[in-house]
Amino acid sequence: MSIVAGMDDDSIATPGAPAPEATGHRPVLLHPLIESLQPRPGLTYIDGTLGAGGYVAAFLERLRPGGRILAIDRDPAAVASARRRFRADAGTVIVEHGDFADMASIAAAHNVTAVDGVVLDLGISSLQLDDPARGFSFRFDGPLDMRMDGNSDVPASDLVQQWSQADLTALIRTYGEERFAPSIAAAIVRRRSEEPITTTAQLREIVERTIPRRFWPKRIHPATRTFQALRIEVNHELASLTLGLQAAIRILRPGGRLGVVSFHSLEDTIVKNALHVSAQNCLCPPQQTHCTCAHRASLLLLSRKAIKADAAELASNPRARSARLRVAEKLDDVR
Ligand SMILES: C[S@@+](CC[C@H](N)C(=O)[O-])C[C@H]1O[C@@H](n2cnc3c(N)ncnc32)[C@H](O)[C@@H]1O
Repeated sequence: MSIVAGMDDDSIATPGAPAPEATGHRPVLLHPLIESLQPRPGLTYIDGTLGAGGYVAAFLERLRPGGRILAIDRDPAAVASARRRFRADAGTVIVEHGDFADMASIAAAHNVTAVDGVVLDLGISSLQLDDPARGFSFRFDGPLDMRMDGNSDVPASDLVQQWSQADLTALIRTYGEERFAPSIAAAIVRRRSEEPITTTAQLREIVERTIPRRFWPKRIHPATRTFQALRIEVNHELASLTLGLQAAIRILRPGGRLGVVSFHSLEDTIVKNALHVSAQNCLCPPQQTHCTCAHRASLLLLSRKAIKADAAELASNPRARSARLRVAEKLDDVR
């Protein structure tokens, strides 16, 4: 989750940018992201995770005159909202509905084939999280939905109703990193034999009753991990991320930069590994004396370690605490 209410940090304020629609949401790690990706007049960027348009607004003013940003989101509501918000910027901001895994074809449709930068700010926005009807949050009662794109994927309630206990256990353990996964899955299966599980409140209650209070995590709600697991599966987030990273690396021009903000360890591990592999000249086993893999580095890592929010951002925005930014640059001699 990366955008939060409260616009009190002006250090990276966007000159003359329109106020975000309806709320004062602010993106996480915007300052280091702008510093790393260096948007300038005439350059072309892709924002694969448009969300509330916070990054797009910040890029927009820096790209004029002559630059462009293609903004993509799987969520039709985010797309509709951004089309309204950036109506007057049609020459600079192109808004498209889609999965960032498909960014190459989406970009090609706009004659964009080599870009100066790609940004991915993973997960969901607070516009999605704070809307009870979307079913992302245990904080509100609503349908157990969790689809970013309600037109294509299946809702979380289908998984909860239909998956076997073994599959639910594996899902909650793997994508939620939840040690109580077996008991939560068993409790789900028990409850659904009595009544359909269709709401966020039902799932929250099942998890709360299953995890003994003395094991409740200190900093997060006990249902956080179970909700995260379902959301990742419903939106096939990790597969999209893997494909999106490959697409992003391919579409960058030499010298172009990729910036990825992740919010949990599963995402960050995929990002870290993908960037590290792309930054290596050979992937042969270390004991092999000469290279047979022909793998050549396509990226230079600009941040060996992930960039985190500084004290000022953390003070004004506690939700930035789990955000990690990784940045890399496309190398020259890549075919
Ligand atoms: C954390 S928010 C982005 C916030 C944005 N940076 C801002 O400044 O307002 C993530 C957004 O990415 C979208 N999203 C997540 N995975 C996606 C994917 N695979 N393809 C396209 N959009 C995706 C979500 O629907 C959500 O709107």
